[in-house]
Amino acid sequence: MPFEALPDRWPLVYSSGMQILLGKHIILGVSGGIAAYKAAELVRRLRDAGATVRVVMTTGAQAFVTPLTFQALSGNPVHTALLDPAAEAGMGHIELARWADLVLIAPASANLISRLAQGRGDDLLATICLATEAPIALAPSMNRVMWADAATQSNIEILQTRGMHRFGPAEGPQACGEVGEGRMMAVSELVERSAGLFLHQRLAGRRVTITAGPTREAIDPVRYLSNRSSGRMGFAMAEAAREAGATVTLIAGPVHLPTPPGVERIDVVSAAEMLAAVQSGIAMTDIFIAAAAVADYRPVRVAKDKIKKSDATLSLEMARTEDILATVASRAERPFCVGFAAETHDLADYARDKLERKQLDMVAANDVSQPGIGFDSEDNALLVLWRGGEKHLARARKTELARHLITLISERLSSR
Ligand SMILES: Cc1cc2nc3c(=O)[nH]c(=O)nc-3n(C[C@H](O)[C@H](O)[C@H](O)COP(=O)(O)O)c2cc1C
Repeated sequence: MPFEALPDRWPLVYSSGMQILLGKHIILGVSGGIAAYKAAELVRRLRDAGATVRVVMTTGAQAFVTPLTFQALSGNPVHTALLDPAAEAGMGHIELARWADLVLIAPASANLISRLAQGRGDDLLATICLATEAPIALAPSMNRVMWADAATQSNIEILQTRGMHRFGPAEGPQACGEVGEGRMMAVSELVERSAGLFLHQRLAGRRVTITAGPTREAIDPVRYLSNRSSGRMGFAMAEAAREAGATVTLIAGPVHLPTPPGVERIDVVSAAEMLAAVQSGIAMTDIFIAAAAVADYRPVRVAKDKIKKSDATLSLEMARTEDILATVASRAERPFCVGFAAETHDLADYARDKLERKQLDMVAANDVSQPGIGFDSEDNALLVLWRGGEKHLARARKTELARHLITLISERLSSR
């Protein structure tokens, strides 16, 4: 499903071009409850959200839905057996446990919850739960009396104190004809809650200011000088910083991008306006990320009226604009400063020079001469440098790179 087609009611799964579950490996564990048929829909919705899904079924689950259904929907073989040499020769229990970014068990039967609470390894799903380092989320589903039973309540409490996540159950009419608490949480909500597990709060309590996009330097009332920056990288950084728990101000040049949810946006046009907007809030900022492609020069004189076509050539006298990043980095009380460097050659040398010359804390450099990355495209590849270290972030969507970069920033910040 294209990004645009994902419903609004999934704000965590999809927001402003960002898919939290994109590329995530999810093991969907299905145990023997009547809601097993709903897990078929869950596979589809997780895949719509960009995840790769492998289904592991208990023996009980196979009495309700066939493995063939899940194989067809997930596009992967279904895993059912633990003590089976053929299965182990393929993707065995340890490999599956390592492969997963998340183990989501929906429905989680009372029996499975009890087996997990005992730490048993008596089938493939229970063994994967013991062997994985990925988060485990349970969506209990059972008759309301089974759910209220003291044994079930004590088992689920044990699992939660061990760090497993519980999604639901919901209240309402049940397959057995009763009404109460015990229904499996709605599929859309399970997808949403799964996405929520991937949102880190590394920058909780931090204030982040980000510049993005190009600037426009006026020549006359209808003409300007600008550049090809789309603003995507800066907007992706704003989104990733917000998801990491920061309070984010995004100072944007003229771009056609929606504001990421929860982000304060200030629109500016020229380099001078961008500098003024940055300076007005910089004293409160913990992290300053300069992702904008700010014009280095501006016309000295802006013509009051439209310049008429007359001579064969036209000369513009240009003056340097103020370097916003250098201005911020030279403050006595300065935030953690991150610069971007767009270069066409000698990437590492220019980036290292920028880091030292402007006394930055980090530089993210990209080679804009490479086709398909950098300016105006969805993808990028970055060489990230700081004093005493560097990391290559291979070609990926800007949204994904932004999340990696925010992680690197938060690590450097905490080691400062
Ligand atoms: C028709 C039918 C429906 C059932 N529905 C549920 C259910 O919704 N939740 C549950 O915990 N157990 C339910 N059970 C009982 C489980 O299937 C049984 O405890 C089974 O051993 C669970 O195995 P598992 O842990 O391998 O999934 C149901 C049994 C039957 C016969």
